[in-house]
Amino acid sequence: MIKIRIPATSANLGAGFDALGLALTFYNYVEIGESDTIDIASTDGLDVPTDEKNLIYISAKDLFNVCGKELRGLKLRQTNNIPMARGLGSSSACIIAGLVGANKLLGDPLTKDDLVDLAAQIEGHPDNTAPALLGGIVTAVFDGRRVEWVKQEVYTKLKFVALIPDFELVTEDARGTLPKEVSHKDAVFNLSRAALFSASLLTGKYENLRTAVNDKLHQPYRMALIPNCKEVFDIAYAHGAYAAYISGAGPTVMAIVDDKNEFFAGKVKFSLDNAGLSGWTVHEFGIDNNGTAIITE
Ligand code: HSE
Repeated sequence: MIKIRIPATSANLGAGFDALGLALTFYNYVEIGESDTIDIASTDGLDVPTDEKNLIYISAKDLFNVCGKELRGLKLRQTNNIPMARGLGSSSACIIAGLVGANKLLGDPLTKDDLVDLAAQIEGHPDNTAPALLGGIVTAVFDGRRVEWVKQEVYTKLKFVALIPDFELVTEDARGTLPKEVSHKDAVFNLSRAALFSASLLTGKYENLRTAVNDKLHQPYRMALIPNCKEVFDIAYAHGAYAAYISGAGPTVMAIVDDKNEFFAGKVKFSLDNAGLSGWTVHEFGIDNNGTAIITE
């Protein structure tokens, strides 16, 4: 069996809707091996699809198809640490596991670029799949077929603190609330902030991040689907976060915090509990610069 480690991801980073994402030091593990039957199980008792509807299996099968091979079965063992439907890239982690595992089983016929393209085609946008594969912060443009991307490694003392509620938000629903058209003014509002975000993160101008994560394309609409979202943002800022934004499609709120802000997580949890929001848990991560790795063959 090949064992693969895939990082969680945080997409959009505020204004970079469908374009920016970064990988976190928080991982799913998937063991994948050849089999004539579909033999799928989770190692942690989590209920995962054990038939051909399993997303890792679907992605592996897509790669086999692209390579002109037939996939008759697969043995999969999943360890799912990344919570599902919370805006932390759990489905992208499955897609990348399936593609990287299948590519390895076939002797690595596809290049990294091919995998980035195929993953975006399966997911529909590249901002979770590309950083899950590549690590770091990834800027990506997807034309429906190919992804033009840049991965930048990030060495910073920033913490990414995920405030994760105890309810799910399905990406399809969270995309369904978005407007079909936006004004020229709002487009400029977002593109300037998305550019400001990467430049500020990479040059250490962290005081810009609060402005950079504002957007007019998705967060205002998604806030309505996330009860108490505004209060959670306020708590993060009250305890000194540089920035807070809805991670991916939500409902997780991600706070970007200076390493020196030592007790941020504890203070935020205390405030959440005091505000009657004890269903929200707080988890501290860094940026993963390696992306998906095969850890045993
Ligand atoms: N860019 C995507 C969205 C990320 O915001 O819908 C979630 O998959």
